[in-house]
Amino acid sequence: MTNPLFKTKSVTKLIAESDDAENGLKRQLGGVNLVMLGIGAIIGAGLFVRTAAAAAQNAGPSVTIGFIVAAVGCALAGLCYAELSSMIPIAGSAYTYAYTTMGEFVAWIIGWDLVLEYALGAATVSIAWSEYLNKLLGLFGLTIPFEWCHSPFQVDEVTGASGIMNLPALVILGLLTLLLIRGTKESAFINGIIVVTKVAIVIIIIIIGWSFINPENHAVYVPEPTTYVDNQGIEHAYGGIMGILGAAGVVFFAFIGFDAVSTAAQEAKNPKRDMPIGILGSLVVCTFLYILFAHVLTGIAPVEFFRTEGREASVAIAITKYMPGYKWLADLVTVAILAGFSSVILVMLMGQSRVFYSMSRDGLVPPIFSVLHPKYRTPYKSNYLFFAFVGLFAAFVPGDVVGDMTSIGTLFAFILVCAGVWIMRVKNPEIPRQFRTPAVPFVSISGILVCGAMIFGLGLANWLRLGAWLAIGLVFYFVYSRKHSVVNNGKQIV
Ligand code: ALA
Repeated sequence: MTNPLFKTKSVTKLIAESDDAENGLKRQLGGVNLVMLGIGAIIGAGLFVRTAAAAAQNAGPSVTIGFIVAAVGCALAGLCYAELSSMIPIAGSAYTYAYTTMGEFVAWIIGWDLVLEYALGAATVSIAWSEYLNKLLGLFGLTIPFEWCHSPFQVDEVTGASGIMNLPALVILGLLTLLLIRGTKESAFINGIIVVTKVAIVIIIIIIGWSFINPENHAVYVPEPTTYVDNQGIEHAYGGIMGILGAAGVVFFAFIGFDAVSTAAQEAKNPKRDMPIGILGSLVVCTFLYILFAHVLTGIAPVEFFRTEGREASVAIAITKYMPGYKWLADLVTVAILAGFSSVILVMLMGQSRVFYSMSRDGLVPPIFSVLHPKYRTPYKSNYLFFAFVGLFAAFVPGDVVGDMTSIGTLFAFILVCAGVWIMRVKNPEIPRQFRTPAVPFVSISGILVCGAMIFGLGLANWLRLGAWLAIGLVFYFVYSRKHSVVNNGKQIV
């Protein structure tokens, strides 16, 4: 008999469950909707905030190489995601895949770990949203006092004021939670408008900014290895290979989200065809834009700028300062970024509630997470609970910290997905796959190595945070989930 820890869910049963049209989520998203959903989740704070942070703390202009490393890791993991999501078209992403491949315990670890990706990802972006909101208010001569738009761990270097809580971050999370509860289709429509605006803005900045690149800023493209201590006293490896790996780990955040497409599998009209299109399509588009954008950004402003006055709302401030005559672009960027960040937060919050929806149906987290709204058929109670949880981080923890936790959590999930596709090929070669990951196990192994290298680059503090989060999860698993697991108790939730 299989050890309960390693019991798997059967793929056939899973697919039958997902076709439960009466009680389940609505199938209403097509291929294009999914690419939109992907780009909606992808372009956000990673590009507009974390790029500058990675340049300042880790790699200078060679942050572009960091983007390439991160893109390679994502492409490898994306190929694995695409195969799994085309064969197991169920809500829940990496979590569900793990349940069918590596058993309940690993699935639990992933589901728990995905909270870092989705919930903390949403928190990170809402903090970035707050930075740009302040920039926008500045246009009208208004400003939110430092205390009310920063966490208690942050100090204003000019006035010495200490943060109390990040109120704007909390407000945007609340508004988007309400929108999400109204329903996926409505959210997908608004998301579509935002995606177009956001992509347009990135392209405009690349084109106009190109002529403002100052070759001096690119003179030392890969800085000599040294260390940099940020204003919270945290030491980072700067320059050289370690700097690039660190930058890759940081800007990896910018790619997070393409996998969020897979969490919508249960709402896709034709998941077998549309999931690979959604996942890989959005990844390819974004990779091109990112590398060019990072090249332009580090070309128009020096690294020192990103460490000082350009630390927050970097892109808009850099344009104002280094691209004379283009203040209008800085203002436009600010508005577009605010809208763009909103769509990212929306998809993250949605991904989070969908993962917990699946886990709750499996009995691994309490039933409240799968209660659907009587009219909108969205997991509204879960949305409210996650608003509270994400809100705590958004209000009281600095963006860099939650951002890096998001990166490391996601990288860890990617490693398990890369392993999952390989295990599934060996264990269940007979199950039809609409999309086959090429060159398995080479792609799986390379994906594990590249994502592992980025985890390495993120440094000790982040390894410890990941470890602590997983340890809490372990306790929860043995105290609650194991006893309530549907797979282990033979019951089926309807
Ligand atoms: N990729 C998303 C962003 O950069 C999470 O905001």
